[in-house]
Amino acid sequence: MRRNILVTGGAGFIGSHVVRLFVNKYPDYRIVNLDKLTYAGNLANLKDVENRANYTFVKADIADLDEMRRIVGTYEIDGIIHLAAESHVDRSIKDPFTFARTNVMGTLALLQAAKEYWESLPEGYDGKRFYHISTDEVYGALELTDPEGVESPFSTTASSERRNAYGTEFFKETTRYNPHSPYSASKASSDHFVRAYHDTYGMPTLVTNCSNNYGPYQFPEKLIPLFINNIRRGKPLPVYGKGENVRDWLFVEDHARAIDLIFHRGKVADTYNIGGFNEWKNIDLIKVIIETVDRLLGNPKGCSEHLITYVADRQGHDMRYAIDSRKLQAELGWEPSLQFEEGIEKTVRWYLDHQEWMDDIVSGDYERYYGEMYANR
Ligand code: NAD
Ligand code: DAU
Repeated sequence: MRRNILVTGGAGFIGSHVVRLFVNKYPDYRIVNLDKLTYAGNLANLKDVENRANYTFVKADIADLDEMRRIVGTYEIDGIIHLAAESHVDRSIKDPFTFARTNVMGTLALLQAAKEYWESLPEGYDGKRFYHISTDEVYGALELTDPEGVESPFSTTASSERRNAYGTEFFKETTRYNPHSPYSASKASSDHFVRAYHDTYGMPTLVTNCSNNYGPYQFPEKLIPLFINNIRRGKPLPVYGKGENVRDWLFVEDHARAIDLIFHRGKVADTYNIGGFNEWKNIDLIKVIIETVDRLLGNPKGCSEHLITYVADRQGHDMRYAIDSRKLQAELGWEPSLQFEEGIEKTVRWYLDHQEWMDDIVSGDYERYYGEMYANR
């Protein structure tokens, strides 16, 4: 079946993996990548698919309602996968207004444009989908009750062998929203708007809440690419607080696969949690990154450990995130395909093999290039 799918934020980290997967897997679909190309958007992430017949790029701001109306109508969009957002917690602490504008008002503008267009069609909402990509951070923070880690209750899954859990509670789809940072507050608000458009107008919506992603093309303000790059350059590795905070890491291509599955087979108006069954204390993860980078660069073992630098903690730093994604596993048969050891090795290799990608970002070259290229479109 021919479908016109709008992917917002497709020039970002996760969005570029989703665009690549859809462009390759669905030659009969038209994939429209809508992105404002903020500091985090980078068309170099999509060089391998940019000339494909079923791919179109449109530079636009999701908070511009008239532009959203125009784009949704022009491309006769029948499915939306909404990833565009301000995504970095530290930036939200410094500048919460930008987060409210893009994440809340932008999501609302997109919902409204889709509503008006779909309601104007003879078939209405039939065959339509508005799929909103959200985060586990909306649930707040879990306590770290087992500082040494115990065997995970999910260790029956292939990908979770040998994994530790650092507490007895996990985020489930029914967990009450309790966001703490301006980022997670803005994402929680956008989630509520998406559900409100279903409950009020009958729009076929879906929301998923995912844990920390890692992998190629992640902007180097986030922990893993930042640290890989700093180790390579012999720069300090700023560990917030004591490095005891726990995150649940998922390889980005596994997230993209889940998005594909849920977009096509998820139950309308439902919510699915997506996670890696893969909890790591920051400091333990950092030691794995150091070991991997040093080994792949041929450095003596442990030679970069002296770069670890404990710095002031992030304000309101959530202690632990851990997802229970057994609903997605049971209902749609999804589970992470990569063991973490394999995923981190692949990731470090990718950054070391794509130093130009990293250097262009760090020097701001790509922003200047694409800023000029698309300024007047
Ligand atoms: P990212 O920061 O790498 O990319 C965000 C993209 O959105 C960029 O290409 C940027 O240019 C674009 N964008 C920002 N503001 C825009 C606007 N006003 N109009 C149009 N485009 C705009 O983010 P990411 O890490 O790929 O995250 C993508 C989505 O997934 C976000 O909604 C985020 O909340 C969610 N999420 C991320 C993670 C994670 O670990 N990275 C985990 C769970 C959920
Ligand atoms: O849980 C999903 C979320 O994961 C997504 O919704 C966000 O978009 C994404 O950015 C990520 O949020 P985090 O705040 O968990 O990711 P970040 O990479 O910024 O930090 C990971 C952990 O590492 C966190 O506990 C803070 C710590 N940290 C981070 C940086 C950048 C450091 O100790 N030092 C650092 O320099």
